[in-house]
Amino acid sequence: MKAIVYERFGPPEVLEPRELPKPVPGDREVLIKVRATTVTAGDWRCRSRIVPKGFGFAAGLFLGFSKPRHPILGSELSGEIEAIGKDVTRFKVGDPVFAFSDTSMGSYVEYKCVPEDGALARKPSNLSHEEAAALSFGGTTMLGFFRKAGIREGDRVLVNGASGGVGTAAVQLAKHFGARVTGVCSTANLEVVKSLGADVVIDYTRDDFARSGETYDLIVDTAGTAPFSRCKGSLREGGRLLEVLGSVPDMLRAPWVSMTTGKRIIAGSPPWGEDALRLLASLAESGRFKPLIDRSYPVERIVEAHRYVDMGHKRGNVVITW
Ligand SMILES: NC(=O)c1ccc[n+]([C@@H]2O[C@H](COP(=O)([O-])OP(=O)(O)OC[C@H]3O[C@@H](n4cnc5c(N)ncnc54)[C@H](OP(=O)(O)O)[C@@H]3O)[C@@H](O)[C@H]2O)c1
Repeated sequence: MKAIVYERFGPPEVLEPRELPKPVPGDREVLIKVRATTVTAGDWRCRSRIVPKGFGFAAGLFLGFSKPRHPILGSELSGEIEAIGKDVTRFKVGDPVFAFSDTSMGSYVEYKCVPEDGALARKPSNLSHEEAAALSFGGTTMLGFFRKAGIREGDRVLVNGASGGVGTAAVQLAKHFGARVTGVCSTANLEVVKSLGADVVIDYTRDDFARSGETYDLIVDTAGTAPFSRCKGSLREGGRLLEVLGSVPDMLRAPWVSMTTGKRIIAGSPPWGEDALRLLASLAESGRFKPLIDRSYPVERIVEAHRYVDMGHKRGNVVITW
């Protein structure tokens, strides 16, 4: 089967096509013929080894120090089940499914084996494979953060970086939880963020949300430009800053902030829960969550797709088709 591998960290050109043996499903695994995968900010970080300041050593333990620990990137996929192991009961051959491999990656392949009780769910019938492939990265990230923050109906939520892969999921999921949402993005993305359900949009090239006098129950920062020092005045009493792209200083001061201010910093990667993929699928089925697709590239142009994502201004998700 075809796969895209990388054997050293670096620019998009380190990605190379390779022939690998087609995998055989174990007794409780399904074999998926992959139709689509994505290029996420996570793929860019793993490939380039560019990580937020202060995370170098921790990232090395996970990504590898001198060469990649996981030589196949890709955390999301959508496709059809081609074969099943003898003990599989929940899926059958031909089922359209989507799956999330999270930090273990390995989705830039033509065929992938996934445990039937892993992060795997039926593809929503109203989504294409390109859209279904992009359900998980932003969706699971924001389910984890919103659950840990205890989001409630009527909360006022600000999403800084509302137009990216995580931000577009944050806006839609916050609306699903009944929040009033303010999206912060650049001029070109104001309309698209509004179309995702944001009640208010702020153009960060013109206005500074932290100086507007408005206050929020939750501030989601996916851009890394809203540390606690900047947005503490914009958090209500009991408000939480969700640092999707966090900084080491804020992570270290989080306990002190909780003790002294009545506000909280939530950082890291909160667990998203076993039901996350099924929940995202059902929200998609009912039209409440739809991954925004910026660009789609055939796998032969994956280097070009990574070059685009490297620029840091994608709008929603970038998809690779097989
Ligand atoms: N903690 C976790 O578990 C976790 C999980 C997933 C991702 N992440 C991290 O979260 C970050 C975001 O991921 P992503 O997938 O959303 O990335 P992405 O899709 O590349 O998002 C980039 C977006 O950020 C916006 N942006 C850039 N500068 C901005 C600014 N100054 N103010 C507001 N928005 C700005 C861009 O909008 P414009 O084009 O309008 O500038 C673009 O739409 C990444 O660094 C990733 O590593 C963390």
